[in-house]
Amino acid sequence: MKINDKVIGKAERVSLLLRELYFSYGYRGYRMGKFEEYDLYSKNKEFLVSENVITFTDGDGKLMALKPDVTLSVIKNNACAAGEIKKIFYGENVYRAVSGANSFKEIMQTGLECFGDIKKDEITEVICLAAKSLKTVSADCVLDVSDISVIKRIAAELTDGSFSADEIIKCVGEKNFDELSRMAKESGNEKLSAFSELIGINGRIKDVMPKLIAVCEKMGDASFDEFLSVLKIVAKDENADVINVDFSVVGDVNYYNGIVFKGFVKGVPAPVLSGGQYDNLMKKLQRSGKAIGFAVYLDTLENSGANLQTEGEDGFVNIALPKGRLGEKVYEIFAAAGYECPAVLNPNRKLILENADKKVRYFWVKPSDVTIYVERGAADIGVAGKDTILEYEPDVYELLDLKEGKCRMAVAGVNGFTDDESKTLRVATKFSNVAKNFYMTKGRDIDVIRLNGSIEIAPILGLSDVIVDIVETGATLRENNLSVVETICPISARLIANKSASKFKGKIVEEMLENLKKAVDAKEKS
Ligand code: PRP
Repeated sequence: MKINDKVIGKAERVSLLLRELYFSYGYRGYRMGKFEEYDLYSKNKEFLVSENVITFTDGDGKLMALKPDVTLSVIKNNACAAGEIKKIFYGENVYRAVSGANSFKEIMQTGLECFGDIKKDEITEVICLAAKSLKTVSADCVLDVSDISVIKRIAAELTDGSFSADEIIKCVGEKNFDELSRMAKESGNEKLSAFSELIGINGRIKDVMPKLIAVCEKMGDASFDEFLSVLKIVAKDENADVINVDFSVVGDVNYYNGIVFKGFVKGVPAPVLSGGQYDNLMKKLQRSGKAIGFAVYLDTLENSGANLQTEGEDGFVNIALPKGRLGEKVYEIFAAAGYECPAVLNPNRKLILENADKKVRYFWVKPSDVTIYVERGAADIGVAGKDTILEYEPDVYELLDLKEGKCRMAVAGVNGFTDDESKTLRVATKFSNVAKNFYMTKGRDIDVIRLNGSIEIAPILGLSDVIVDIVETGATLRENNLSVVETICPISARLIANKSASKFKGKIVEEMLENLKKAVDAKEKS
């Protein structure tokens, strides 16, 4: 029966088509209730995408939850006999509280889970089905595939006290090669350079396979064998044309333990599919065997502004620049790299400016908003201070240190300040997330006082014990009898890119990145 487009939305249509696809591959539908005992989630927090579970008490006083996730319930409620394989698909809504906001979210997902006595055949089938799912949504799609177990193991080996495995994995996820090479240089660790070469490999399987094999041999690491053998099988599949090797798919490192993948379609700024192997959950729920699965985010499809698709057609790269002095300095780098747009420096109030010859379109936005424009795809790339990136943790690539706007994030207090560890430390800051993360790693209890500016005044008036803020010349601190207690990290302007735009405008963005690198190097040498 043909269903009228006016009756059925895009997400519902895709959901039906996908479920039909999974059924044709021998998967069976599984319908769940909306509620689950909260106990399941409190005991398995590491397997939840978000801890913002919506809870309520039932008539017997038992704490219940509106399901925040599908996989946990599927595995809990479907025992597998020895040697058995279960293949299940679903179309379900999950529910989460929105952190920081007084609201809730209902998220529509369709996906599948394959678990039990699964081997390479099932793993490759699921990867190919993920690619086929994307093709069902749009012909212009990419499935990025990586292996988190390889990344995790090498990262653990490379860590040397001055940086942790988690920091390395974070850089991999952000494609932050500048930071990785800084770590390699500081530690003199040659294996870290080879690792950078490995994670820089990006492209269709058949194109990157020779290089991948060569780098893996160089690293002398047997754990690649499994990943390479899966890729070899997948490369022969009819969907291999949309499957990319991309190590930046690090997924949730606690949840996944092997192959991981993320799917993108042109016109949608965020990933629309995510999945991987999650054998650890099987162990935790005392199930034998392995598991792999994925979910398609139907809301992301339905709600996306689809702006990249239309903008993408004109071949322009949309660039968000931070308004102000830093933005002007950064624009000079773009101009030196060959992407000039003289109108940018005109003292008028125009916020969107373009150079049709160079195919660049610049936007002036509030510095702290750049990450939002890029993460949501309104801009393909942008320039944001590392302070903003650390504070908002946007899901973007951090491609280049532009080496402008250099300063540091620091803890400061009145001259002679000493920390009384028997008390909660009161910290005034604009960067509450940075402050929380910094003190969490130290295990220090803090009370964050969120201010919007003139932070230095807080400890002077006794509003806080210390501040976490940007220090550039140190003049503001000096003039107010304050001094740095501890440096948190160096800050400078970074080039960030929308992940989806990096797939579908990949060539232009890569070319731009290379030209910007040269301009930054030239400026450093001059
Ligand atoms: C920033 C920062 C410090 C000052 C540091 O303030 O918050 O106050 O610069 O620079 P310095 O070390 O060279 O003195 P900004 O000018 O952004 O204003 P704000 O008070 O609104 O944060």
